[in-house]
Amino acid sequence: MKVREGIKLIEPCEELAEAYLDYVKEFSAAEEGYIHGSGVELKDDFGEFVRLLQDYAKGINLPEGWVPASTYWLLSEGRVLGVSNLRHALTEFLLREGGHIGYSVRPSERGKGYGTAMVRLVLEKAKELGLEKVLITCDKDNPASAQVIEKNGGKLDNELVSKESGKMKQRYWIEL
Ligand SMILES: CC(C)(COP(=O)(O)OP(=O)(O)OC[C@H]1O[C@@H](n2cnc3c(N)ncnc32)[C@H](O)[C@@H]1OP(=O)(O)O)[C@@H](O)C(=O)NCCC(=O)NCCS
Repeated sequence: MKVREGIKLIEPCEELAEAYLDYVKEFSAAEEGYIHGSGVELKDDFGEFVRLLQDYAKGINLPEGWVPASTYWLLSEGRVLGVSNLRHALTEFLLREGGHIGYSVRPSERGKGYGTAMVRLVLEKAKELGLEKVLITCDKDNPASAQVIEKNGGKLDNELVSKESGKMKQRYWIEL
């Protein structure tokens, strides 16, 4: 049995600044620039960063063409283990390649079941929002992400070439 006890999803808050910055630091150290599921790029002013995430969850101050999206942090004993972003609806781009949910787990905690467990919890949030099925996409060369999706009931719809990266992407649907 993998380690998954004592984890919970929480909404971004200023009180967890140190824990979140530690999460980001681990990505920099691992030379992973982009943090999937973080919702918004980190700002120098952590309060502003959190307020933006809170606004986007409520559909306030959204950039042009964005839909409301909730960001969650997976917390265990005060540490942020993962982050995930749940788009409340699909735009043309999200339907084609972005999907409803993005996520990442901190490099040192991968392979312990946290990614699968986090997406399971985020799917509950999607259900609470009233979504009946959820689209999740991943690069074809990302087997860990494909496993996370399949373990959560994802059924492969199709594969296509990303207009953004030129890489092959897989599109999965999960019935809620
Ligand atoms: C994708 C990601 C979130 C997975 O998180 P995780 O916590 O390692 O996932 P889990 O531990 O739940 O693993 C899920 C499954 O993938 C498998 N897996 C992990 N790494 C793998 C790899 N490199 N190749 C094949 N399978 C792999 C695991 O073995 C596990 O299957 P198992 O339970 O049968 O052993 C994590 O690798 C990550 O943050 N990657 C960078 C960001 C990213 O790619 N996000 C997704 C964008 S679509």
